[in-house]
Amino acid sequence: MRVELSVNGERHETDVWAGESLLTTLRDRLALPGSKNACEQGECGSCSVLLDGELVCSCLVLAAQADGHEIVTVEGLAENGGLHPVQEAFADTGAVQCGFCTPGFVVAAADLLRRVPEPTDDEIREALSGNLCRCTGYAKILDAVHTAAGR
Ligand code: FES
Ligand code: FES
Repeated sequence: MRVELSVNGERHETDVWAGESLLTTLRDRLALPGSKNACEQGECGSCSVLLDGELVCSCLVLAAQADGHEIVTVEGLAENGGLHPVQEAFADTGAVQCGFCTPGFVVAAADLLRRVPEPTDDEIREALSGNLCRCTGYAKILDAVHTAAGR
């Protein structure tokens, strides 16, 4: 089947199979590998994207369900050729280790800061509760979100 997606402000038409996830379409058909596939069952948040402004796990959304909708991936957060403040803060605070989880955290944190510009620790923990990191122990990730909020 053919779907039409708006991804990071660009219109794409592509063929997908009926059971194909949005994550697979983004990575394998649209050459956007920023969203990661770490569990493919909605557990880790590595595949987080914004679908019509809502944070979703793209491994749990069918490409067919996204037909005609707007998607923002981690590649689409940067503006005017520079990094998004959350991307910059993750790099500056050492919140990135293996980086597998990082794109999902960045998308979820950017979504939080859009809604809550100065979140508390609890609000950050709640907003990022769907994202798992096996490496950093989360302290630096919290630091990164506070740093981005300050900027
Ligand atoms: S790959 Fe989608 S939640 Fe883990
Ligand atoms: S940096 Fe490795 S899983 Fe998060």
